[in-house]
Amino acid sequence: PLVSMKEMLEKGRAEGYAVGQFNLNNLEFTQAILQAAQEEQSPVILGVSEGAAKYMGGFNTVVSIVESLMDSYEVTVPVAIHLDHGSSFEKCVEAMYAGFTSVMIDGSHHPLEENIAVTKKVVDVAHTLGISVEAELGRIGGQEDDIIVDDAEAAYAIPAECDELVRETKVDCFAPALGSVHGPYKGEPNLGFDRMEEVSKLTGVPLVLHGGTGIPTKDIQRAISLGTAKINVNTESQISSAKRVREVLADNTEMYDPRKYLGPAREAIKETVSGKMREFGSSGQA
Ligand code: G3H
Ligand code: ZN
Repeated sequence: PLVSMKEMLEKGRAEGYAVGQFNLNNLEFTQAILQAAQEEQSPVILGVSEGAAKYMGGFNTVVSIVESLMDSYEVTVPVAIHLDHGSSFEKCVEAMYAGFTSVMIDGSHHPLEENIAVTKKVVDVAHTLGISVEAELGRIGGQEDDIIVDDAEAAYAIPAECDELVRETKVDCFAPALGSVHGPYKGEPNLGFDRMEEVSKLTGVPLVLHGGTGIPTKDIQRAISLGTAKINVNTESQISSAKRVREVLADNTEMYDPRKYLGPAREAIKETVSGKMREFGSSGQA
């Protein structure tokens, strides 16, 4: 069923695993992620950025596709449709109205008080409707869609500010920027685990780790042990599917039927997502 993230994340935090947010880019991503979740018997969060929603035909189209596929595949595991990096109160409401069961309001580029104000506004509407909300503080480096944060702008979240934001807004989960990066890492990631522990203890809510692509398993496990219950992955599925398309087309230079190269791409996404579900410990938890 389509549900908010609240229960699945609280269960994950209590029982020591994380639920993956896997981003949708097109129909094949949506199919692959839902199939992986059902086969792994894992709860799943479908992440939809504003750019991806636009590409796929808008928020309503995304919700229709997800609902139809869940029907066709007889999906029984908990699924959340989550707006990833919502840029404004208005965009969050638009997604909620279309049927999203969860939203992120990314006010991380605002000063603290403004971030709190816009997040609170979103929570007030969302919670009336049983929709969960994620907020962010500090700035996650790298690039996702139109959001580009260079090294100088990337900033670690300050624990006291995290505490204030979570307390005043009552968000359901929280993403403190602690050195993770969107897109591939340049060298080994250097996550701020001490701060992660502090923020987790202070706020008491499930923490979210953005930029899940390229983080070594030992760091994933450590993050989960410190209260991380949601891990976002997009680039890794994109890389594995693009690689498969390149291979298939290189081996078959006369091929033109999209089903013949997007089918294998879909398999590659499914393999990537299933692997992450096992690594995060969410397999078998639905
Ligand atoms: O919000 C989405 C994620 O943080 C994706 O990060 O593309 O580096 O896996 P990634
Ligand atoms: Zn992100």
